[in-house]
Amino acid sequence: MIDFLVLGSGGHALSVLNLGRMYDSFSPLGYVSLKRSQDPAFESLAYFSTLTDALGTGIKHFANGVGVSVSLERRLSISTEAELAGLTEISLIACTADVGSEVGDLRGLQVFQQSVLQINAKLENHVVIGSGAIVEHDVLVQEGAFVGPGSILLGAASIGRCAFVGAGAVVLPGVRVGDGAVIGAGSVVTRDAKPNSKYLGSPAREVA
Ligand SMILES: CC(C)(COP(=O)(O)OP(=O)(O)OC[C@H]1O[C@@H](n2cnc3c(N)ncnc32)[C@H](O)[C@@H]1OP(=O)(O)O)[C@@H](O)C(=O)NCCC(=O)NCCS
Repeated sequence: MIDFLVLGSGGHALSVLNLGRMYDSFSPLGYVSLKRSQDPAFESLAYFSTLTDALGTGIKHFANGVGVSVSLERRLSISTEAELAGLTEISLIACTADVGSEVGDLRGLQVFQQSVLQINAKLENHVVIGSGAIVEHDVLVQEGAFVGPGSILLGAASIGRCAFVGAGAVVLPGVRVGDGAVIGAGSVVTRDAKPNSKYLGSPAREVA
């Protein structure tokens, strides 16, 4: 049994908590957040307001429950801080996800319910694949990127480091979404999206 901490206490942390509870081999023991969660699901967990307090318990593993309310660079740096403090990030893959690609060695991967990862889809560390998302063959999703629920990444598309693909968005085959780019929910991305930019609509256009 691997005991782990959830970093965060909001909506994404709750989803991560539920994902962790699907496994017999993982047990969420506590959470670290600046404020105590209001959600009853957290009541059985120990609460820590700092990582240092949590480390005092001897827990060795964590899952990043910070959602997209902070920048994805910040989310990634929270993982890095916890790793530097000596914790190891676990990967959580829903038992209802259909995983046809190699993800065994990745750290901090979160693959939610009913998603599909086709053969040769390549994911990097700390990637989040939302529930019902489809990642087609030969797609690359780079470190710390967040692929929203129900989105579809078609063959050989690539999603840059810490980029965000909103719920239900479609990225067409071979299209590259740059590092840190934000794709609005429901958008259809037909051309490459520049790094650190925001695209909305169908076809997706850059907005300020
Ligand atoms: C893209 C997004 C991040 C933009 O957020 P924002 O910068 O705060 O934008 P605003 O809400 O201020 O909206 C600005 C304008 O864009 C429009 N807009 C916002 N999101 C849009 C979208 N996905 N598609 C089309 N238009 C959109 C708004 O209607 C508004 O238009 P207006 O100026 O004519 O009124 C956000 O709207 C979005 O799509 N988030 C995705 C959420 C999601 O999928 N979360 C999954 C987490 S699990």
